[in-house]
Amino acid sequence: MRKELKAPVRCAVVGYGAAHVFGRAHGRWIDATPGLKWAAVCDRDPERLKAAKDEFPQLETYSSLSEMLAKADIDMVSVVTPHHTHAPISIECLNAGRHVVCDKAMCLTVAEADAMIAAAKKNDRTLAIFHARRHDGNFRAIKEAVHSGRIGDVFHIELTAGGFGKPREWWYAKKSLGGGAFYYWGPHAIDWVLDMVRQKIIGCNGFYHKLVWDDADQEDQARAILRFENGCVADITWSHIAAVGKPLWRVLGTQGGIIDTGAGGNKGYQELLTGPSGGSFQMVTIKDGKRDETQVPYKESDWLTYYVDMANHLLHGGPVPVSGEDGRRTIAVFEASERSSATGQTEPVAYE
Ligand SMILES: NC(=O)c1ccc[n+]([C@@H]2O[C@H](COP(=O)([O-])OP(=O)(O)OC[C@H]3O[C@@H](n4cnc5c(N)ncnc54)[C@H](O)[C@@H]3O)[C@@H](O)[C@H]2O)c1
Repeated sequence: MRKELKAPVRCAVVGYGAAHVFGRAHGRWIDATPGLKWAAVCDRDPERLKAAKDEFPQLETYSSLSEMLAKADIDMVSVVTPHHTHAPISIECLNAGRHVVCDKAMCLTVAEADAMIAAAKKNDRTLAIFHARRHDGNFRAIKEAVHSGRIGDVFHIELTAGGFGKPREWWYAKKSLGGGAFYYWGPHAIDWVLDMVRQKIIGCNGFYHKLVWDDADQEDQARAILRFENGCVADITWSHIAAVGKPLWRVLGTQGGIIDTGAGGNKGYQELLTGPSGGSFQMVTIKDGKRDETQVPYKESDWLTYYVDMANHLLHGGPVPVSGEDGRRTIAVFEASERSSATGQTEPVAYE
């Protein structure tokens, strides 16, 4: 049995980027978690290292991951770098005996996901994937309503986001670095659906469109339609060419339905450690032929729970918040949907 760590677990963040200041957000969440301590930061960009040191002078700073792994007294590394680096950086950290929290998207391919999981097993270290938006206030409330059975058996889920506009030019929009149109917001959407519908996927149909933004290095729209073993169907779309929109969530059950715009569901995500997001979704229930419409308030967005769960795992042997195997399922859906779009066939999902 693995020896549990002693508090405080010393943590490092790799990637202190300016785009979403998300390395900083990870560090602040870590430091606000009893039992964890943010001790070091690594970024190969000297300006970003200086930004970290200016705001958090107590941190050790490193421009090279290998140097940090060789010198720093750290137990866990949070990987908050561009998607194409997630697999190599996570594997280097695991091979150096560190536990890893890897932000979404876990990696680019199922083969990379398998290599990450194998490295964690070989080194007896934990690999956790940062699907912390399971703690968004609107998702928590919708999941609770669905699982309570108040709208009956759920058979249809739609999740739609995006708009009409050329993807900004940066690594996210380069397919070889970001993974493609689905990998930006899609990891949240696919993970929400897979967390809500704990069923095996028996087939995936994908529809990828490349029609408008000729000089952009990725698809304009990506859509995955998943068929679950219990008959439930989920239809998930991210678009750069949607001139008209739809609500974020539309869920149909045998005794009702849910519509949610998502407004306010993750307000203050990077700044707040945890907090009420406000907002509500519309729920219709049908009972004995009577239709009842209510606005259901969102729950609290308890983002800190992810690292609290991670601390509980490392210090007391509690469950991993989101395992590598769990994260791999999202990457498998991306792969299957892209393959299906190319073949025109329903494709299986490499799904444990
Ligand atoms: N979970 C969420 O809700 C959420 C929100 C925002 C961003 N993210 C994720 O965070 C990650 C980073 O995104 P971002 O917008 O902060 O990107 P970014 O481009 O702003 O930052 C990435 C940083 O990583 C550094 N970097 C790149 N390769 C490195 C290496 N080999 N060693 C050390 N540093 C390296 C870069 O210098 C840069 O400062 C992505 O995986 C993204 O999807 C997740």
